[in-house]
Amino acid sequence: MASAMLIVVLLAMASSVVLASDPSPLQDFCVADKASSELIMLTGYFMFPVLVNGFVCKNPMDVNAEDFFFSGLNKPGNTDNRLGSNVTAVNVNKIAGLNTLGISLARIDFAPYGLNPPHTHPRATEVLTVIEGTLLVGFVTSNPQNRLIFKVLNAGDVFVFPEGLIHFQFNRGHKNAVAIAGLSSQNPGVITVANAVFGSNPKIDDGILAKAFQVDKKVIDYLQSQFWMDNNN
Ligand SMILES: *[C@@H]1O[C@H](CO)[C@@H](O)[C@H](O)[C@H]1NC(C)=O
Repeated sequence: MASAMLIVVLLAMASSVVLASDPSPLQDFCVADKASSELIMLTGYFMFPVLVNGFVCKNPMDVNAEDFFFSGLNKPGNTDNRLGSNVTAVNVNKIAGLNTLGISLARIDFAPYGLNPPHTHPRATEVLTVIEGTLLVGFVTSNPQNRLIFKVLNAGDVFVFPEGLIHFQFNRGHKNAVAIAGLSSQNPGVITVANAVFGSNPKIDDGILAKAFQVDKKVIDYLQSQFWMDNNN
């Protein structure tokens, strides 16, 4: 009886392995073959293997250095927009060789007082390095504490935003700021809070949002009538 219990406990422990990022690859690489992946999408799944996660692998013999290469991250993104920020993502869509590797990066440019607004990456932890300028950054822990953990960062400072948590970066200096973020997914995804809540398509019923935010429907209607720009490229 006791040994049966032990087996149950051991089985439960064995099946509770946590995947903290994209699953790890079972081969050296699987360079995304965008062409055949798109062909699969267009022709339906019955003619080709199902895309379980990510893209079909390119024939390893056809792979070359260009599949692992991106150039241009030295160029600042244009921050002349309402948020005063611009995210240049270098993910699997830019480097096909990132497919299955569970990693990507981004350059974030900030105009003076520019903001990368509260957002979450549903599939990635982020580690941010400030290259230039001064950023006020923070994230909020989950319910019920919802604690804001924040810090002012200068050039050379590194800060971590745990997977899934809402976070932001604000340039509180009067000069431009630049940061490089590493992300633990080939395709971290971005959910900008304001855009998702007030700019969804179709709109979430204003009565629902009025109740959720405990404000008058007019406040919601005003927010829903705004243009919620996306600073991600
Ligand atoms: C970000 O910068 C790039 C490169 O200058 C530009 O093409 C893009 O439109 C900018 N995006 C936003 C949201 O301003």
